[in-house]
Amino acid sequence: MLRQALAELGLSDHPGVIHDLPPNAASDRAVSVVHSPTTGKPIAAVKLDDERSYDSAIERSTDAFKRWREVPAPVRGQVVRAIGNEFRTHKQSLGAIITAEVGKITSESVGEVQETIDIADFAVGLARQLYGLTMPSERPGHAMREQWLPLGPIGVISAFNFPNAVWAWNAMLAAVCGDTVVWKPSLLAPITAIATNTLAQRVASAMGHEDLFTLVMGRDDAVGERFIADARLPLISATGSCRMGRRVGEVVAKRLGRSLLELGGNNAAIVHEDADLDLAARAILFAAVGTCGQRCTSTRRLIAHEKIADSLLAKLVKAYSSVRIGDPGAEGTLVGPLVNARAVEGFTAAVAAAKQQGGTVLVGGERHTQSGLAGHFVQPTIIRAPANNVLPIASEETFAPILYVFTYRDPEDAIAMQNSVAQGLSSAIFTRSASLAERFLSPAGTGSDCGLAYVNMGTSGAEIGGAFGGEKETGGGRESGSDSWKAYMRRQTCTINFSGKLELAQGIRFE
Ligand code: UN1
Repeated sequence: MLRQALAELGLSDHPGVIHDLPPNAASDRAVSVVHSPTTGKPIAAVKLDDERSYDSAIERSTDAFKRWREVPAPVRGQVVRAIGNEFRTHKQSLGAIITAEVGKITSESVGEVQETIDIADFAVGLARQLYGLTMPSERPGHAMREQWLPLGPIGVISAFNFPNAVWAWNAMLAAVCGDTVVWKPSLLAPITAIATNTLAQRVASAMGHEDLFTLVMGRDDAVGERFIADARLPLISATGSCRMGRRVGEVVAKRLGRSLLELGGNNAAIVHEDADLDLAARAILFAAVGTCGQRCTSTRRLIAHEKIADSLLAKLVKAYSSVRIGDPGAEGTLVGPLVNARAVEGFTAAVAAAKQQGGTVLVGGERHTQSGLAGHFVQPTIIRAPANNVLPIASEETFAPILYVFTYRDPEDAIAMQNSVAQGLSSAIFTRSASLAERFLSPAGTGSDCGLAYVNMGTSGAEIGGAFGGEKETGGGRESGSDSWKAYMRRQTCTINFSGKLELAQGIRFE
């Protein structure tokens, strides 16, 4: 599957991908072996950067930036338009690589590439809308305005779970903003990164723009630390765990660079007594089980009104029991594997902790061994908290399909529960009451404390048009739509005196 998809993209001979693994591949520090989450077996290896090749990548990106920023923004938009079209053409093949490498089911993998196409479209329009404001000056014969200028080569760090789209959220915006991009992808998804980056750069090169998109590949100690400390990268945009984000934030702050952090979530769905339970159950199923629970937006906690908790859970347990688990590339599969054995250990440990803390497993809780595949399969799991609603493990983000269930009587308690975790990425409420929905979104900020708040829909599956990200330990950054582009530019306030006289602001006299 992988070879065929790479061949379709014209990447059979890409020098970065090693198909026939030498016997010492696992211990060779110069390469990283990629395993299929579905079979557990090695599928290829990728070459890693050393100090010299890393440095040359940053140099090339820096040089390319100096040329690219001179290209008018709407013309830059035309390059992004062509890149978006390239992804349109190769959506299925790229999707197949994502499925092979990270175990996402085909429709979600292809959906991820669609997200890349969408953000490219968004960026094309944006290329003519990098608006600054004008302000009235307090002085006669003066004009005041702000303009947005290209920032530099942007460092992008991405996680395994959105190995294509998260780069695009950053790269497509950065490109129209006049920036170049250096991408350090997860070593769990390097082939998707190679394919994605090569496709984009191939189009840009054909249009006369070399090195707009560059990849650096390596382990944290060799490449990661150097990357975040590199003062040639004015912005590091990092998507991944809170642990990683804390390190990025610390190192980038130390050099007074900018960081844009989009980190973990511990997202809850509140289901009120007046909700449409069928709709809620379907939405929660996708949000909790989709991508095998490995989205930062996955629903991890269900906060159900005590009057409807049992009937909602009956629907969910039934749906969970019939979900088809197995080969993510096969038609009809809804749940593929977790990404690796460590993720399975995390799942098993969380289930054990929940049981030990008084939780009741309503469905799942075990490894899934029936598919006849040797990969990292687990059963989608629902665990009900004890009657006192105390279940400490639910405060941790476990990247696996585990849904913890709590109950409430008073909606104020439900909102407090939803806000009680360290992260603040995504949140949802299901209700037919307009006033409860508005209470959840209160403009006083007393409702959901998350960056994303949904009404009558699940916590995952954001559209690209809005700003994406969250508060608290989620890191505060915003990627993708709305005015997120401003993070990739520098703002300049320009004041022009055309009066022929010098006048100081604030009425100061200095004569
Ligand atoms: C992520 O898991 O890092 O909202 C991103 C969603 C997707 C993006 C998830 N559009 O679920």
